[in-house]
Amino acid sequence: MSIKLNYKNLGLREHELEFTRPLAECAFKTLTDRSGAGHEMLGWHDLPHTYDKEEFARIKAAAKRIQEQSQVLVAIGIGGSYLGARAGLEFVHGPFGNQLRQNGGVEVYFAGSNLSSDYVQNIFDIIGDRDFSVNVISKSGTTTEPAVAFRLFKAKLEEKYGKDGAKDRIYATTDKARGALRGLAVAEGYETFVVPDDIGGRFSCLSAVGLLPMAAGGMDIDQVMQGCLDACERYKNPDLMSNDAMLYAISRFLMLMKGKQVEILASYEPSLVQFGEWYKQLMAESEGKDHKGLFPVSANFTTDLHSIGQFIQDGSRNLFETVLWVEKSRQELIVPEDPANVDGLNFAAGTSMHSMNEKAMKGTLLAHVDGGTPNLVVTIDKLSDYNFGELVYFFWKSLAISGYMIGVNPFDQPGVEAYKKNMFALLGKPGYEDAKDALEARLKELLG
Ligand code: PA5
Repeated sequence: MSIKLNYKNLGLREHELEFTRPLAECAFKTLTDRSGAGHEMLGWHDLPHTYDKEEFARIKAAAKRIQEQSQVLVAIGIGGSYLGARAGLEFVHGPFGNQLRQNGGVEVYFAGSNLSSDYVQNIFDIIGDRDFSVNVISKSGTTTEPAVAFRLFKAKLEEKYGKDGAKDRIYATTDKARGALRGLAVAEGYETFVVPDDIGGRFSCLSAVGLLPMAAGGMDIDQVMQGCLDACERYKNPDLMSNDAMLYAISRFLMLMKGKQVEILASYEPSLVQFGEWYKQLMAESEGKDHKGLFPVSANFTTDLHSIGQFIQDGSRNLFETVLWVEKSRQELIVPEDPANVDGLNFAAGTSMHSMNEKAMKGTLLAHVDGGTPNLVVTIDKLSDYNFGELVYFFWKSLAISGYMIGVNPFDQPGVEAYKKNMFALLGKPGYEDAKDALEARLKELLG
C-alpha cells in the first residue's frame, strides 16, 4: 500500500486549491525541469534510478564485514550526515533496536552530533571490551563535532587494535575527491564511500551516508531503495489531484498563507521519534530562509498529549498538525481482564493496544480540529524498510515543491554557518582571529 494523505480537516475550500494550483504546477515544473534555484543539488530527485550500483554492492559487503568483525558500529556525523540513518533504524527496528539486534545487525550508536564529553564516554562504556567499527561521515571532513568525535574513537580503535588493525575498522563516507577526510582516508587506507556532489546533507540518507549504517544495523537496503523508487515514479504525476506530494505541498503553503507559523509532525509510535528529528531538519533547513517558512516541530503522542497537548488544544492558534499514522502495529498485545478492576479499565479488556492507540489518534484529531488546530493525516500501513524509503521520498519531493512555492532556494542552508563562525573565533581557530575580541566584548555585555 502506498502513502495516503487526508487533508479534509484543514478546512480548505475548493477554490483555494484551484487558485493555488498554477503556483504548485509552476513549482513542480521548475523542479522537474531543473530550472530553479539550487537545481545543481537535485541529485536526490532521480536517485533511485541513478545511484551507483557498484558502490551499493560495496556498501552491502562492508555492512557484512562490520557484522563479522564487530558487535558495535559507531556512526559519526552531524545533521544530514546522521539523522536519516538514525531515523531509518528506529523506524524499522524501534527505539530498542540496539538491545534487540535484528536481522544480524550490529548495535549502532551515533556520535559526532554534539560536543558533550559525557555522551562520548557513555558510548565508550557501552562498547566496553567488545569489538567495534567506526563509520565517519562528513562531506567536508572539517565539521567540528564529528571531527572531535572521530579523533576520540580513532584513538580508542588504535589503542585496542593498533594502527593497522584500526584502519580495517574505519569506513569513511566523504567527498569523492576533496576535503580533509578524503585526504586522511587515502593516506591511512580506509575503505571509502561517496557523498555525492549534487546531494545536500538533508537529502543524503539514501546515499552511502545513510545506507551503510542502516545496512550494518540490519536494515534491508534493497527494500529501502525499492520504496524510494516506487515513490519517485508515483510522484512524477503532474496532476495535482492525484499527486499526494503536490497536495501536501499545497496544503502546507495554504496553511502558511492563512497565518499558521508552526507545523507539528505528530506520531503515535515511539519508533517515529527519530523520523521527527529527520523531518525537522529537512523542513527547517530547506524552507526557513529569507525570513519565511513554517517552523517544524515534532511530537510523539500519546505522551506529548500530556505536555504540549495543552498548547496544541488551547494555546496560540498559529499551529497546524500533520499526523503520521501507522495502520498496523508489529505486535498485537491485548489489554488483560483484571477481576478487581481498581483502575476501571475492564471496559477495554480484550481490546488490542493498537486499536486503543487508534481511538486516541481519532479522539485527538477531533479535539484538535474543534480547538482550532487544522489537521492533515499521512497514513502508511506499517513500519517497514520499504515504507521508510517511500516516505523519505514523499517528504523530499513535497518539500521541494513547497519550497519553490514560497520562493526560497530549498537546497541551500546559509544560516547554518553563523554559529560556526562565532564558535571558531572564540576557540581561536586560525583565520578567525580578527573577530575574537569584538565577540568576547559583546559576550561580556550580554552574559556578564
Ligand atoms: O544539511 C546539511 O548540509 C548539514 O546538516 C550537514 O549535513 C552537516 O552540517 C554535516 O556536514 P558535513 O557532512 O560536511 O560534516
